[in-house]
Amino acid sequence: MNYELVVLGGSNGEHLAIALSNIGGFELGVVEVKKFPDGETYVRVLTDVTNRRVIYINSLQRNVNDAVFETILTIDALRDLGTKEVIAVIPYMSYARQDARFNSGEAISIHTLAKMFKMVKVDHLITIDMHLHRIHDPSNLFGANFHNITGVRELAKYFKKSHEIENTVIIGPDEEAEQWAKVMAEELGGLEYSVLEKTRLSAERVIVEIRGVNVRGRNVIIVDDIISTGGTIVEAVKALRELGAREIMVGAVHPLLVENAYNRLLRLRLRDLVGTNTILSPISIVDVTPAIHNALTAIIKH
Ligand code: R5P
Repeated sequence: MNYELVVLGGSNGEHLAIALSNIGGFELGVVEVKKFPDGETYVRVLTDVTNRRVIYINSLQRNVNDAVFETILTIDALRDLGTKEVIAVIPYMSYARQDARFNSGEAISIHTLAKMFKMVKVDHLITIDMHLHRIHDPSNLFGANFHNITGVRELAKYFKKSHEIENTVIIGPDEEAEQWAKVMAEELGGLEYSVLEKTRLSAERVIVEIRGVNVRGRNVIIVDDIISTGGTIVEAVKALRELGAREIMVGAVHPLLVENAYNRLLRLRLRDLVGTNTILSPISIVDVTPAIHNALTAIIKH
């Protein structure tokens, strides 16, 4: 065991911290997190971290604001306690979709969250398939060496192992999902891929098209970064069925599954529905620990 390194899990990251400690042979440290009766968060690092390199892992979801504040409190405490280096692994970075002022007066939430990370200072920040559509220099924004890795390869390995993937097309539910469709298609040996394109003809009429591939009579894997309410997937499945797709499978990196999303998706009678364990949910079947471990290996060599 490398005594210099210790891995700590926050309330939404302990399962990944345990898995990483097993794969990487890192000591598994302990952080106590409690709530005071008035709702304030209490954090206490119970492992000796002085002069050590600490990997801290927490996803910012479920009770989003609690998770954010717990993370900031913990990293600040780690700094105060004299750590040599903090490598923060935030598999799911919340607030990333509010990355612009879409309506006048709005807070640009991800900028504020990034300032909080900058204030407590992390050396490296690893995220998984973070929504980076309008963020061009994340290292500068977060004040850390920024590494955005993908969980889509792990999803692809799952589909390869669990299903016949011949005669299968990979589809992103919107244009922003092309990046994930491309990775999934490559990982599955060069399958065809495309995205759904929606054109609104009037308030009542929307047409959905796919350029470049024909899904009629073929199986489809829909791949996306996030399933939140499930609305995007419901619409995509409806459109693909209208276009003649046969069996439909869905893979998403971050299964937030808010409100009744899980039941909405079950009603679709998909051939398969899987997410990764960046967030624990009823569909978190695919383990992203190997992808995180690869990224860490490159960082901790230095
Ligand atoms: C959007 O930019 C994302 O890539 C997802 O497609 C979206 O967040 C999914 O949300 P929902 O499940 O609520 O439709």
